[in-house]
Amino acid sequence: EEEDEGTLHLTEAADFPCVALVGLGKNNAGVCRTENWDTSKENIRQAVSAGCRLLQDLEVSHVEVDSCGDAQSAAEGAVLGLFHYDQLKSKKKTKVTTQLHGSADVVGWEKGIVYAEGQNLARLLMEAPANHITPTAFAKTIEEKLAPHADRVTIHKRPQAWIEEQQMGAFLSVSKGSEEPPVFLELHYNGSPDSKQPPLLLVGKGITFDSGGISLKPSASMDAMRADMGGAATVCASIVTAASLKLPVNIVGLAPLCENMPSGKATKPGDVVKAKNGKTIQVDNTDAEGRLILADALCYGHVFNPRAIVNVATLTGAMDVALGSAAAGVFTNSDWLWEQLHRASVVTGDRVWRMPLFQHYTKQVTDSQLADLNNIGKYSRSGGACTAAAFLREFVKAPHWAHLDIAGVMSNKDEVPYLRKGMSGRPTRTLVEFAAGLAHNG
Ligand code: BES
Ligand code: ZN
Ligand code: ZN
Repeated sequence: EEEDEGTLHLTEAADFPCVALVGLGKNNAGVCRTENWDTSKENIRQAVSAGCRLLQDLEVSHVEVDSCGDAQSAAEGAVLGLFHYDQLKSKKKTKVTTQLHGSADVVGWEKGIVYAEGQNLARLLMEAPANHITPTAFAKTIEEKLAPHADRVTIHKRPQAWIEEQQMGAFLSVSKGSEEPPVFLELHYNGSPDSKQPPLLLVGKGITFDSGGISLKPSASMDAMRADMGGAATVCASIVTAASLKLPVNIVGLAPLCENMPSGKATKPGDVVKAKNGKTIQVDNTDAEGRLILADALCYGHVFNPRAIVNVATLTGAMDVALGSAAAGVFTNSDWLWEQLHRASVVTGDRVWRMPLFQHYTKQVTDSQLADLNNIGKYSRSGGACTAAAFLREFVKAPHWAHLDIAGVMSNKDEVPYLRKGMSGRPTRTLVEFAAGLAHNG
C-alpha cells in the first residue's frame, strides 16, 4: 500500500486511549459510471462516519481522523456521521470534536467540515418540530447564521403586507388557513468581484408544516410534514455555506414560508386564485400547495435577471414512488444546467437523476374547468411528479431553469450509510458544489 503523510501507523496507536480501525474497500475505486458517484469518496464518508459514531457511542469526546487520502470526504463523513438531533432531549449523546490527524490537506479537511455543517444546518431545520420552526423562527435562524457574513449578505424578511402588495395570490391562498403569519425570505449573497454579475437564483419550498389543508392528509406519518420546508432549508443552508466558503459568485435565495392548515379561512377545493403573473389557478386539491407558493416565488425571481434558476422542493409523494431515496429528480429546460448539477452530484455522492418535461404533462394541468391551470393533473395519480413540474414551468420564462423534487430524499432510514436515521438535509452539498462550479466558470 502506498503511504502518504497523513497515514496513521499502527505503532502510533499506542498514543491514543482508543482507536477505531475502518476498512475503505477497494483501492482507487474512483468514479463509477453505473452508480453515478465516486465510490472512493463514498467509501471514505461511510468508513469515517462509522468510526466516529462508534467512538461517540463509547463516549470518546475528541477524535483524530486520518485523511484516508481524501481529507474533504473524511471530514464530511465525520461531521455528517456525528450529527444527531437531541436538542429537545434531557439525555444527550457525547459531544465529539474532530481533528485531522497529521498535516496532509488541511484545506480539504476544512472544506469538508464546512460542506457537512451546511447539510447539518438543513437537517436541523428539517428535523425540528413545526411548533419550533415556524416561518418566523426559520427566517430568524437563517438571519443569525448569515450575521457573520454581513459584509457580503443582505436579508429581507418580507411580511404579509409585502406579499399582498406583490399580488402573490397563490402563496396567500396557502397561508390563509393558518394563524401563523407567512414570511417571504429573500437572501442576497454578493460573492462575485463583479457586483453586476447576474446571480444564481435558488428558490426553496418553505411549508413549515403540511397538513394537506382541507384536503387533509391521513394522520399516519403526518409528523414528517414538519420537513416540508426541506427545499427552503437546503437552499438557505447552501447559501450560508457559500458565504462561509466565500465563493466568488452572486446568489439570490428566495423562500416562501408558511403553514398549510385547514380552518374556516382556508382555501377550499374548487377555489380559483390568481398568481403574481396574472394566471388563474383552480385549486382542486389543497394538498398540492407547494407548486402554488413556488409559482409566485418563481414569477418574482425573474426581476433579478438570473443566469440560472434552481428551485428545490419536497413537492410530490410520486417522486418518492419513482426514485425512492436514491436521487433527487431534476426537471430542466436546459442541458447545460443539467450537466452542471449532474457533475456536482457525482462529486458529492448526493445524486440527481433527470426527469421529463413533456408537453404531454403540460396538457394535463392546463385543462381546467374554471381557470388557466389546475393545481393537480387531470389523471391525478399518473406521473404526479411530472405534472407538478409541468405546472411550475408555466411560471418560468428563463432559458436555464431546473426544478429539483426532493420528496424521495427528504428523510433517511438506513439507505445513506453515513447519515443517522432522520431528516437528511439532502441535497445541500450538491447545491454548494454546483454553486462552486458556477463560481469557477466565472
Ligand atoms: N409535501 C407533499 C409531498 C410529500 C409527500 C413530500 C411525502 C414528502 C413526502 C406535497 O405537498 C403533497 O402533498 N403532494 C401531493 C400532491 C397531490 C395532491 C397531487 C402528493 O404527493 O400526494
Ligand atoms: Zn401537500
Ligand atoms: Zn407539501
